[in-house]
Amino acid sequence: MVSKFSHLYSRNAREMKASEIRELLKLTENHEIISFAGGLPDPQAFPVDKVKEIVNRLLDEKNGQILQYGTTEGVTELRKAIAERMNKRGMNITHKNVLITAGSQQALDLISKTFLDPGDMVIVGAPTYLGGTNAFKSYNAVMEGVPLDEDGMDPDLLAAKLHLLQMHGNHPEILYLIPNFQNPAGVTITEERRREILEIAREYDMIVIEDSPYSDLRYSGEQVPSMKSMDTDGRVIYLGTFSKILAPGFRVAWCIAEKDLLNKLTIVKQAADLCTNTFGQYIASEYVTRGYLDEHVEVIKTLYMNKRDLMLAAMEKHFPAEAKWTKPDGGMFIWVTLPDYIDTKEMFPRAIENNVAYVNGAAFFADHSGKNTMRLNFTFATPEQIDEGIQRLAETIKQEIIDFKDEKPSKKFMPDEEGLVLGV
Ligand SMILES: Cc1ncc(COP(=O)(O)O)c(C=O)c1O
Repeated sequence: MVSKFSHLYSRNAREMKASEIRELLKLTENHEIISFAGGLPDPQAFPVDKVKEIVNRLLDEKNGQILQYGTTEGVTELRKAIAERMNKRGMNITHKNVLITAGSQQALDLISKTFLDPGDMVIVGAPTYLGGTNAFKSYNAVMEGVPLDEDGMDPDLLAAKLHLLQMHGNHPEILYLIPNFQNPAGVTITEERRREILEIAREYDMIVIEDSPYSDLRYSGEQVPSMKSMDTDGRVIYLGTFSKILAPGFRVAWCIAEKDLLNKLTIVKQAADLCTNTFGQYIASEYVTRGYLDEHVEVIKTLYMNKRDLMLAAMEKHFPAEAKWTKPDGGMFIWVTLPDYIDTKEMFPRAIENNVAYVNGAAFFADHSGKNTMRLNFTFATPEQIDEGIQRLAETIKQEIIDFKDEKPSKKFMPDEEGLVLGV
């Protein structure tokens, strides 16, 4: 529906459209449908009792302080706890390098606001996280995608792309990466590639956003050092969040950057919301400092590893030979590639008829390519649903292949115009 005040909208707001993914995900609110669509944690794993215990204690001991406004930078205890945690993973920072944000999504917005003028260019993975491209787009940036393979972004393709852009007088300002268990492709950038990519970023003088919501969720393979820990000239801005390892409802995340840049981001944040919610920050701080987070991460790692294995085994058993998929070492997603002649957006109504949902892959490409791909989340559904849902999806794909071979067009899907479901 168009508002009767839309003629008063800013140019920026006029450009912002509800994303396709949100429209599709709305359908999954129907409980008959098994959803592999959203990037949601398992709600059964939320540590409700521990949070209750912490809230009661904080309200008794902190005398209302946790209900007060806080500084824009964030609660000092939490910033210190995060700095300590990050230093154990090879960084060399203090709490003065840490800004607490309302989710990593806010950090993406603040960075965009700080660096991007209309028409500025951002280099992203092809595919990449939709919330990232939405943030950049809302400042009228132009996105250029670099293809990924099973080792993440290929530095040679990145260098070739930058060289070509430079020849046409373009100078991208930001390189946006999700190096660990990428959303949506599930792939991880190797250590060697991380070093090469940083070298290229230096050569072309770009800020690197290392968006890392999944780095604690490794189920197999060796840990790879963060790009921030390899950063020698402060061009990497690292984003971490409690959304996937504690609970997204807190909206508490952290942004790590060199001090002058962090000060600028803090000023930009001040105009946005004064401070991140203090209540959530104190809870998160207690949760980390009491050692609960490390215990909880171990619990969800086992849970999610089992779900990943279950989904991969079910796909192996039920999917047709024409389908290919990634085998992620962590995170929340499996990326599926179907034969070229299948358009997963056009297949979606059939999946919904079969009571199963996914996100069509084209939504994650800046140029809307990747029509034959889809993203599957394996953390939200129950084990029983994973097995049943994969059978339904396999059936859907097989029907689509048969129809193609019989030359039957599949039904066109017309998304409803309203509704906001998170595109995580
Ligand atoms: C790569 C990536 N970045 C950022 C976010 C947003 O996280 P938050 O809940 O901290 O805003 C997500 C959420 O799915 C994500 O996958």
